[in-house]
Amino acid sequence: MARRKISVIGAGNVGSSVAQFLAIEELGDIYLFDVVDGLPEGKALDIQEGAPHWGFSNRIKGFTTSDPEAYRNLEGSDVIVVTAGLARKPGMSRDDLLEKNVNIMKSVGSSIKKYSPNSILVVVTNPADVIAYALHKITGIDPSRILGLGGSLDSARFRTFLSLELDVSPKDVNAFVLGGHGDDMVPFIRYSNVAGIPITKLLSREKIDEIVKRTRFGGGEIVNYLKTGSAYYAPGVSIAAMVKSIIREERRIIPCAAYLSGEHAKHYGAEGIFIGLPVKIGPGGVENIYDVDFEDEELKLWKKTVESVKGGCAKVDEFLNK
Ligand code: LAC
Repeated sequence: MARRKISVIGAGNVGSSVAQFLAIEELGDIYLFDVVDGLPEGKALDIQEGAPHWGFSNRIKGFTTSDPEAYRNLEGSDVIVVTAGLARKPGMSRDDLLEKNVNIMKSVGSSIKKYSPNSILVVVTNPADVIAYALHKITGIDPSRILGLGGSLDSARFRTFLSLELDVSPKDVNAFVLGGHGDDMVPFIRYSNVAGIPITKLLSREKIDEIVKRTRFGGGEIVNYLKTGSAYYAPGVSIAAMVKSIIREERRIIPCAAYLSGEHAKHYGAEGIFIGLPVKIGPGGVENIYDVDFEDEELKLWKKTVESVKGGCAKVDEFLNK
């Protein structure tokens, strides 16, 4: 049987971390693309040379896309992870990146459409919910085959902070974060527990509020330390978990940005946008979306995050019609 093929567009810190984690997990051959001359080839070879120690047999290849013809190597990808674009600098929100990254998506998206329109897309470029929408518009790929990074990473941060506070294994902490992958994401306290015990029984309200706040600004906290770019190890492994659920047909429930339509659109009060929801991720991409109920306070937060994602999508429409 032919090995699976996973392409990663953007060989910066996030793209190369994902490539490394996917290789170690032996999920398939990895094709790495970047516009910076030599960067994808160099990083691919560097990962490949570690194979004897990591113990994988897959191939990692790199392609410089300053000549867009190089994108023909996307052909036949099972999954394409899109990380290309500018990352945040201190003081920038994810939305500040929007116009620049939409322009980059115009060329990335048209190459995907031309060479590999049947792939499942995992969108990481920020603001990820809105860029997922842009790539849907540009490529015409069925929205059930497009997922955006958000909750997978935000929930990992939330679970980490809870586990550090309680001094328990993060494996036993279940928690999820919904809504846009922005500063108004919604960490769900009511659905969060440690081995089934609600976190409200284990931590004070003040402590939980503090952790929620830290989760919301988790990406920014790292940007402030690093100064020259955004986080990449936790994003990398959070993306790899999504890709693994697709390739290995795990059907894990991982919160991530998915397209709202039909009954789910009615339930969540928004239609035609990508936003963080509890999603069953499988070989077809989005295999199910779960409709969770909100209490009053949660509903307020939910409406706010919906409005900000909608605002971003309206801007994308403007940029694409320019
Ligand atoms: C973060 C970036 C990847 O949250 O959005 O760190």
